[in-house]
Order: sequence, then C-alpha cells, then structure tokens
Amino acid sequence: MKNENVKGAGAPGKATADEIRAIFSEVHGRYELVNHMMTLGLDLGWRRAAAKAASREAGAGVWADICTGTGELAVLLSGLAPEGTRIAAVDFSLEMLAEAGRKRDAGRIDFIAARAGTLPFRDETFDLVTMAFATRNINTSREELTAAFAEFHRVLKPGGSFVNLETSQSASPMFKAIYRAYIKYFASKIGNLLTGTRTGYSYLASSIPLFHDAPALAAIMKEAGFKEVRYRRLFLGAAAIHHARKNAESTREASTTKPKP
Ligand SMILES: C[S@@+](CC[C@H](N)C(=O)[O-])C[C@H]1O[C@@H](n2cnc3c(N)ncnc32)[C@H](O)[C@@H]1O
Repeated sequence: MKNENVKGAGAPGKATADEIRAIFSEVHGRYELVNHMMTLGLDLGWRRAAAKAASREAGAGVWADICTGTGELAVLLSGLAPEGTRIAAVDFSLEMLAEAGRKRDAGRIDFIAARAGTLPFRDETFDLVTMAFATRNINTSREELTAAFAEFHRVLKPGGSFVNLETSQSASPMFKAIYRAYIKYFASKIGNLLTGTRTGYSYLASSIPLFHDAPALAAIMKEAGFKEVRYRRLFLGAAAIHHARKNAESTREASTTKPKP
C-alpha cells in the first residue's frame, strides 16, 4: 500500500492514526534496518539504556510495552525482567506485531493488537509501562497525546512507572541545525528508498524537529496525572528518556472515597 494520502507528508503536518498505521504496516519488513541506519545505530544503545532504566523501576510482575513495533524493547525487557514477569507488547499494526512474534526471545511476551489510546486492560494492571520512539506517532494532537498518557496512567498500578524513550530537541542551536539537515536531506530519503514507501519516512521524519522538547513532554505527562516526572537527555539532547511515576495511593480508592465533612 502506498501512502500518497498522508497529510503533510514531506512537510510539517499531522496524519491520522489510521494513516500512521498504514505507514508502519507498509514498512514493517525493513523497519529495524532503516531505523538503525537513520540513527547510525544509536537507537540500539538508547533502547538498551531505556530497558535498563525501566527494569530498575519495577520488580517482578506484569509489564507492558506500548507501540512495541517489531518488539525490540519488549525483548530487551524480557531479558532483564525478574523471573515470573509477563510482558504485554501492544501495537495496532498486525504486520509489525507479526515481525515481533518471529523473534527468538519472545517467549514470555504476549503480543496484543490494540490502540494506545484505548487499551484493553483493567485499571491498575501493570507494574511498568514502557514506550520507545512512538510518542511522536501518537501525538496526532496535544489532546490525543495527553489522553494516551492518561490511559497509560490508568492501567498502571499505584506506584507503577512509565518509561518513555523518544527523539527530542537539543539545547545546542548548532547541533540542532546539523541534526535537522541530516534528517531532512539524508535520513528520510534513505528510509523512503529502502522501504519503497513514497512518502512514509518523509512524514515520520518531518515530525522530529516539530516534536516537544524534554521539559514540554514532562509537562504533558504531569497533565496526564503522573507524579515525579524526570528525564535524561541522550546524545546532546537528540533523544530523551522520561521516567514518570503514578501516585502510590490507589486512584480507584481515591476517586471512590467521599471527602470527609
Ligand atoms: C516508530 S515505531 C516504534 C516501534 C518500537 N517501539 C521501537 O522501539 O522501535 C512506532 C510503532 O507504534 C505503532 N503505533 C503508532 N501509533 C499507535 C497507536 N495509536 N496505537 C498503537 N500502536 C501505534 C506503530 O504501528 C509502530 O509499530
């Protein structure tokens, strides 16, 4: 399937969730290769750092990797998780999930087709929620992004953690300019060429310079209900890992407890 209909492809703009799904379902076979080439392999180390940081946040239990794609982060988490942990790996592209399911180390991972904004899980199911390189995709509007983070907050147990890895904005104007030129003139073209998509990677790459910087993303997580939000910049701010914690007090109890007179 070709994505001529992607709004704003190759230029600043926003696509709908269905258009985003069509892009990933089209590029699934070469997604990992292109990602590693576009980031010159840096995404591998960034994902490892996020997996290590996330696994330190939670003990054995039930973990979820949202927008898991081909499952790279879920597999890393599986290797680090204490015995007895199950991992739910969620994505709305069946083609990406099929790639993930082919991984040798996917043994204790359950693959689930669902949308990030409407997760098919009860309140307070997970000890840990992670997401890598998908925040830009679910940012179809600021409201949608806040609602998706609120959904992650809903499915986390009290005291549970959300760890998010995403490209970010460098504080250095010179690095920012070089990085933007690299994405515009090299990375997105390589992505289109290798996957055969006409506009998919131009669209995906066009959202990189427009995305929130690390403090702004932290503020959106707080708006969604998270406490203790902190972040760590990677590679001069080209990416960032955010950690956000849900209040240790149960929100279910809090919302059902009537205020004392
Ligand atoms: C850039 S890939 C990231 C994949 C993986 N997490 C990684 O580390 O490479 C984004 C993934 O998010 C999925 N996705 C995007 N928007 C989504 C949504 N609203 N609900 C569920 N999955 C979504 C896409 O299908 C795609 O597999």
